[in-house]
Amino acid sequence: MNTKTTVIEQAELEKQYAFCDKISAYWQGENRVPTAYVETYGCQQNEADSEKLRGYLSQSGYTIVAEAEGADVVVMNTCAIREHAEQRVFGNLGALTHTKRRHPEQKIFLCGCMAGEAGVSERIRKSYPHVDGVFSTHHLWQFPEILWNVLSEGKRQFYIADEAGSIAEGIPQIRDSSLKAWVSIMYGCNNFCTYCIVPYVRGRERSRKKEDILQECRSLIASGVKEITLLGQNVNSYGKDLEENVDFSDLLAEIAAIPGDFLIRFMTSHPRDAGKKLFDTMASSPKIAKQLHLPFQSGSSRVLKAMNRHYDREHYLSLVEYAKRVMPDLVLTSDVIVGFPGETAEEFEETLTLIAAVRFDALFTFIFSPRVGTPAAQMDDPTPKEEKNRRFDRLCALQNSISEEIHKAYIGKTLRCLIDGSDEEYLTARTEGGRLVRLKGDSSRIGTFANVTITASNTWSLTGTLAETEA
Ligand code: SAH
Ligand code: SF4
Ligand code: F3S
Repeated sequence: MNTKTTVIEQAELEKQYAFCDKISAYWQGENRVPTAYVETYGCQQNEADSEKLRGYLSQSGYTIVAEAEGADVVVMNTCAIREHAEQRVFGNLGALTHTKRRHPEQKIFLCGCMAGEAGVSERIRKSYPHVDGVFSTHHLWQFPEILWNVLSEGKRQFYIADEAGSIAEGIPQIRDSSLKAWVSIMYGCNNFCTYCIVPYVRGRERSRKKEDILQECRSLIASGVKEITLLGQNVNSYGKDLEENVDFSDLLAEIAAIPGDFLIRFMTSHPRDAGKKLFDTMASSPKIAKQLHLPFQSGSSRVLKAMNRHYDREHYLSLVEYAKRVMPDLVLTSDVIVGFPGETAEEFEETLTLIAAVRFDALFTFIFSPRVGTPAAQMDDPTPKEEKNRRFDRLCALQNSISEEIHKAYIGKTLRCLIDGSDEEYLTARTEGGRLVRLKGDSSRIGTFANVTITASNTWSLTGTLAETEA
């Protein structure tokens, strides 16, 4: 495997734009406007990648549509994090045989994290002959070339070389929202938590240059974007691989200094690398949302060690204590895994006591899923599935009651929210901490900040009314 990060030269990207032009010309020759559908699985990183796939497709003359049926191109941008995610993809991929039968010229691609997994491309080669191309995240920047090869040669394309990863600036993007934007600040991961497939499928940690990120943020803000979410598997190690002397807190402070009325969020933080400087930087700027997603994974120091997380229970608790001290209104969310191989009943209780002590606003809860090629998949796992399910249910019940109580305490408070959309009869908004609020109001308010008085709550969300005061 090539272990060096490559920066894709502008000249290489120009070649990809030239492929976009060839594809456009091909469809002009066919005398019709082709359509494309991109389906995204997994995390925000994949959402951000799908915006680039749509950008390339649009530059190649395609109209983006909302379903696979009848589309000239279907791209499945996949997630490999848990087995369940993969089963869904294989199920949906199988179902595409029918759409392709009805529209035989349809070209089907599979990309994203599963495409970089050992064995997946072989399985597709053998058992999914209707798939025209497979490319891993390392090859996303070459999508126009891959698509052109399929169209012009009619042969299946596999771009799955295992690489450390690259950085390509300037891929066109069709963003899902004109109000909120994802900005990847780094790619890949070096942590190799023993349960996790991400470092194998997304390559080594590599940071974008600070100036490229600032430039992107400036232009987003100038175009009216009100919320920017910085993305990375471990944003706290931003900059470690760069020549310039910059860390994540420095980057945050510089983005916050861009003039304009906007909020910055970020994810994900790793408790090993997050610390006082980050929390002080957050506390010092009104433009940095007081929201922190800080996965703890387990409340047991023994399990954390087996997970290769490089912090223990006490360290995690001390981080949270400091963060809440400097940001009293902090909204704290986390990820937790139940049933890691060898987790004992007592160790699971430690997870519950940590949750009770921290009182997270919300938790993303997962049952351990063995991933082929990761160390944890080889570990002894004597706990029966039924027991893991019981633990999971207890954990969820505890967290639900905490979330419900925290949400109840919002009632009567007036909070500055960004009104970001509507669902049926309500406008939807997010508090600075990222909690969902539903409220009655005119859709002309979408895209503005407003003060909202909270009138009711449940485990998952808040209900409110527009306050008289200007936000
Ligand atoms: N980079 C982020 C998270 C990426 S994956 C971080 O380090 O926090 C999102 C979450 O999925 C992880 O935090 C973890 O809780 C969960 N996860 C990852 N691999 C898993 C596996 N094999 N089984 C169950 N949950 C897993
Ligand atoms: Fe996976 Fe750990 Fe990297 Fe997060 S930090 S992506 S959990 S290896
Ligand atoms: Fe899934 Fe890849 Fe994200 S495995 S969670 S889509 S980094």
